[in-house]
Amino acid sequence: MDNTTKPSVKVGELEFPPRKVWMKTYGCQMNMHDSERIVSHLSGMNFSVTEDQSDADLVIFNTCAVRDLANQKFYSALGETKKSILKNPKIDPETGMKKDVIIAAGGCIAQTEGKELVKKYKQLDFAFGTDVIDNIGEMVYRAYAGDKKFAVTSWDRSENYSIETKITPGTPMAFVNIIKGCDKFCSYCIVPFTRGREKSRRLKEVVTDVKRLVEYSGIQEVMLLGQNVNSFGKDNGESLAQLIGELDQINGLERLRYTTSHPYDVTDELVEAHRTAKKLANHLHLPVQSGSNTVLQRMLREYTIEHYLTLLEKMRRANSEIIITTDMIAGFPNETEEEHKATLDLLDKAQFDFIYGYTYSPRKGTKATRINDVLTDDIRLRRLKEIQDKQMVIQAALRSQMIGKTYRVLVEDKNISKGIQKWSGRTSCHRLVHFEGTEPEKNYQWNWVDVEITSVTALSTQGTLV
Ligand code: SAM
Ligand code: SF4
Ligand code: F3S
Repeated sequence: MDNTTKPSVKVGELEFPPRKVWMKTYGCQMNMHDSERIVSHLSGMNFSVTEDQSDADLVIFNTCAVRDLANQKFYSALGETKKSILKNPKIDPETGMKKDVIIAAGGCIAQTEGKELVKKYKQLDFAFGTDVIDNIGEMVYRAYAGDKKFAVTSWDRSENYSIETKITPGTPMAFVNIIKGCDKFCSYCIVPFTRGREKSRRLKEVVTDVKRLVEYSGIQEVMLLGQNVNSFGKDNGESLAQLIGELDQINGLERLRYTTSHPYDVTDELVEAHRTAKKLANHLHLPVQSGSNTVLQRMLREYTIEHYLTLLEKMRRANSEIIITTDMIAGFPNETEEEHKATLDLLDKAQFDFIYGYTYSPRKGTKATRINDVLTDDIRLRRLKEIQDKQMVIQAALRSQMIGKTYRVLVEDKNISKGIQKWSGRTSCHRLVHFEGTEPEKNYQWNWVDVEITSVTALSTQGTLV
């Protein structure tokens, strides 16, 4: 049914005709999942998603504050939105009059700067933080009732963290939040300020939730989410390893992943889960940040490189197929050339399959900003490039070992490459694999297929259907 034939729905005192919401999400998987929750709540208020901003009645930016670049992207997109709405005002088809488009900003920037944002940006109607996602309906109601220029950035003070997972209909993959917030306060990181204190859901609730998703919504792959999933259940005498053990028993669930892990909290019990849980993916994303112990100390990361490497060894002993990926920050304040070399050395020792590398970006309010830093942007960029160049060589060698082997892939997408249509999906070890379908008319999306790898480079893996 299109929007012209859909009936209005009554919410409280207001009629909600069919409307369109356009969303832009920045940042991590937690933010992506928050956007999924927002859309799910708004569908009950007669909103459907549009990919075309000029077609939207409601524009929502779900923001990220992790590095300055993320902030800048949002500010510039907000500016462009104002310009495009002024140039092409939305016209009400019934009255022929200009229609108000409501613009909101949520997420991590909005959590810490919500009030300032609505004051500073005239086009912004309201802002909302990370802990009020499930109240989006009330906020949108307020905005349509005529209340403008408000910011809701309160924290949920209740002891329990209890939710029901919302999904995007039509996909067999679900993000499932198991813990929110972060108590680590790494010296460079804004997340503890934008996401608040750690709070876990109860293990039983998560298991019931996932069973429901598998049984009634056709979910086959689950990604357990949290800024530090290894802290899951700490306050309740429960653990991530126990949770994995229980989820592994669910009939119909094919694959289980989790992200993100902090090396300090990886227990032997969790290593053991990688040996015993059949559905747990052959992949671990374990951010290391630096290869230098002195930098790790200044980052307040609470582990040494020796400890980190021992963890990798244990994981690889538990599951010989496991693939390790990581995050790195180049040019932490006053990082010396020697400290940077230690990071390059770590690449040889750790044999990562992929690195998300960043240059250090000072974040207001974090401890690292108190350091009188002498490094320049050029030094940081040069060091990041050195890390990435070295990693490309390691990565190409590691991935070449895939040639001739067959991998089970859940097909996610298709694209055209050099005039040929190819499908793509991820292996259990999280590598993206491209292949050509054998039946041109067949829609392979969300099918499980076996793909034999025929060629690889550091960044691309190609195969054929078995
Ligand atoms: N919780 C995860 C962890 O413990 O590593 C990751 C959180 S953060 C959202 C994702 C990555 O962003 C981090 O691993 C780090 O590499 C990077 N990051 C965080 N703050 C940064 C900063 N101020 N400058 C550059 N990179 C940063
Ligand atoms: Fe940020 Fe550290 Fe928390 Fe990860 S563990 S979110 S890097 S403070
Ligand atoms: Fe960004 Fe917030 Fe995630 S700062 S990386 S969206 S937790």
